[in-house]
Amino acid sequence: MENLNELRARCEACRACSLCQTRTNCVFGTGSETADVMFVGEAPGEKEDLSGVPFVGRAGQLLDRYLYAVDIPRESVYIANILKCRPPKNRDPLPEEEDACIGFLREQVKIIKPKVIVCLGRIAAMRLIKPDYKITKEHGEWVKKGDFLMTAVYHPAALLRDPNKKEEMLADMQKIKEKLAELSEG
Ligand code: URA
Repeated sequence: MENLNELRARCEACRACSLCQTRTNCVFGTGSETADVMFVGEAPGEKEDLSGVPFVGRAGQLLDRYLYAVDIPRESVYIANILKCRPPKNRDPLPEEEDACIGFLREQVKIIKPKVIVCLGRIAAMRLIKPDYKITKEHGEWVKKGDFLMTAVYHPAALLRDPNKKEEMLADMQKIKEKLAELSEG
């Protein structure tokens, strides 16, 4: 099996969909290769495309604040996206782009073997948990899928648009912290 560096190199050379023509950088993923928890967002935005690192823009800074608030060090988690290349003007990913890219995420999960996968927002939850996932109703609920426990929380960009959701986000992040503590005890 490939290691993460080999997989990253293959991802950086990928030309499976048209987003390769407009990307500055492929945004593969970042964090601990032995993380217990993996956070999965939708697709890189402008700052991520320019830097090659996921969640470094405004939404990413807000994610950092939640990780800090519940005492989960960012270096201890792994962060990636469904799409590794930025869609022009940050439009939603197209189904064919997700289909072309999802194999990289599957391989990342196989290599890292997290205990918990947290979808950041509706798009990731619809792809990874179930197609009709309702983020407003189902965020914070645990779903067992194969070897993983999965959940979804609001996308940090949604919290920037609607600060009323921030309390629920903090409660969900606290639940994630508790679940990780429980899993590492048992
Ligand atoms: N939004 C995402 O879904 N992913 C990023 O990496 C940045 C913003």
